[in-house]
Amino acid sequence: MANLDGAVQDAGIPVAVTVEEVREAVAAARRASKTIGLVPTMGALHRGHTTLIDTAAAQCDFVVVSIFVNPLQFGPTEDLDRYPRTLDRDVVLCREHGAHLVFAPTDRAMYPKPQRTYVNVEKLTDGLCGASRPGHFRGVTTVVAKLFNIVLPDRAYFGEKDYQQLVVVRRMVEDLNFPVTVVGVPTVREEDGLALSSRNQYLTPEERQAALSLSRGLQAARRALEAGERDPQVLIDLVRAELAKEPLVREDYVSVVDGFTLEPLIYGREPGSEGAGGEPQEPPGPIVVAVAAHVGQARLIDNLIYREDQPA
Ligand code: PAJ
Repeated sequence: MANLDGAVQDAGIPVAVTVEEVREAVAAARRASKTIGLVPTMGALHRGHTTLIDTAAAQCDFVVVSIFVNPLQFGPTEDLDRYPRTLDRDVVLCREHGAHLVFAPTDRAMYPKPQRTYVNVEKLTDGLCGASRPGHFRGVTTVVAKLFNIVLPDRAYFGEKDYQQLVVVRRMVEDLNFPVTVVGVPTVREEDGLALSSRNQYLTPEERQAALSLSRGLQAARRALEAGERDPQVLIDLVRAELAKEPLVREDYVSVVDGFTLEPLIYGREPGSEGAGGEPQEPPGPIVVAVAAHVGQARLIDNLIYREDQPA
C-alpha cells in the first residue's frame, strides 16, 4: 500500500492510507465471510488501546485499527499540534495484538474537502466534557460516522475511560441505525490506579504523582457507594477532597450522573428520566462519577461506573 516508510512496511501488517485501500481489504475479508471489528484510535497506543484490540481480536475474524489524530475534535487552544504521534511503534503493537489491518489516513484522505456535514448528538454532549470542550463531540461523532461508513464493521470497540464518548457513540448508532454493535471495554489502569492515557506523556514525574488524586478520589467515592452513600454531593466532595490535596491539579469538573442520560443525579429523585416534553422515559443507568482536571500540560479524565446489581 502506498506512501509507507520502511519501518511501517516491515511491521508485517498492511497499513492502508486511503479510503479505497481500506475498502478493498475489508471487502476481501467480507467475501471470505469474516466478521469485521473496528478499533478507532488516535495512536500513541498504550495498554488501554491494546486491550481494545485484544478484545476485538477475540470476537472478530478481521480487526481494523484506525490511527488518525482527528483535527475536527480539537478546540483551537487544545493540543492537536503536540499530540504524540508514534505510528511505526503503533503499527507493530497492532500486529502483536492480533489486528489484521491498520488504517492510518492523512488529514486529506479523511477530509479532502472542507467538511460541510456533521453528526451531532444532542443533550448527551451538553454536560461533562462537552461543556468544557465545545464542538469536541461533534468532531468525534462525525469522524466515527465516517470510519463506520468506510470500514463497515460488525463490531466497534470503545473504552469506558471516555465514558461520555461511549454513551454518545452508542446513541448515534441507535438514533441513525448504524448496523454496528458498539462494545464498551473497561478502563485499563497502571498498578497505582492512574488510568492509561496518551496524554499521560505530558506529565512530569511530580505531575504524574499528583494525577493519582483523580483515581484516589474515585476510589473514595466507590467505597462510599459500597457503604450505601447515595448523596451525589457527598460523593463529589470525596473526589474534590483528594484533588484539593494536590496543588498541581486544577479541577475542571466532578459530576455524578445517570450512566444512560448523563443527567446529574439529584438526591432523592428517581434517576433515568429524560424529563418533561412527552419524550420516552429511560430506565436508570449505572451511577457514574466522572472527573476531569488539568495537571500541568495535560487535561485528564477518569470515571467510576457503579452498577447497583453487580458492583465491581
Ligand atoms: P483515543 O484517545 O486514542 O482512544 C481510542 C480508544 O481507546 C477510545 O475508545 C478510548 O476510550 C480507549 N481508551 C483510551 N484509554 C483507555 C484506557 N485506559 N482503558 C480503556 N480504554 C481506553 O478516543 C479517541 O481516541 C478518539 O476520540 C476517537 C474515538 C478515535 C475518535 O477520533
